[in-house]
Amino acid sequence: METKKLTIALASDHAGYLLKDALIKHFSQNNVSIIDCGTNSADSCDYPQFAELGCKKVLSGEADLTILCCGTGIGMSIAANKLRGIRAACCSDVFSAKYTRLHNNANVLCLGARVVGEGLACELADIFVNTGFEGGKHKRRIDMISDLEK
Ligand code: RB5
Repeated sequence: METKKLTIALASDHAGYLLKDALIKHFSQNNVSIIDCGTNSADSCDYPQFAELGCKKVLSGEADLTILCCGTGIGMSIAANKLRGIRAACCSDVFSAKYTRLHNNANVLCLGARVVGEGLACELADIFVNTGFEGGKHKRRIDMISDLEK
């Protein structure tokens, strides 16, 4: 049986665009569809704008998950978590990247291009996209987070 190809949206600011490009290259070798939401140069830009573009792809269902890259990953995660329905996690270790999917059902991974190297970033991204939500008691907690958005 053929499995559905995953679609991942990626966005970055100027500090994260080279890492975004490396992730796009990595995913294109791994049978994943990509939506590139920019930016695509080192010209200074504002990360909240690109956080919004990337998050809208997962909120609309066009993408299964979104990955955002900036210098630290932190600005992107703060901005992304302002959007209703977004659960963004800034990760720089494999345990967090795995458990934010298992327990938090995170739909956005934020990576810091000045924090993690390309190799680790690709591993974090792979773990994030290949791990599913555990549900059960964690679903109740995610519903409680959704209630906080009302
Ligand atoms: C840009 O210099 C930098 O502030 C940005 O990429 C990000 O790290 C913010 O959180």
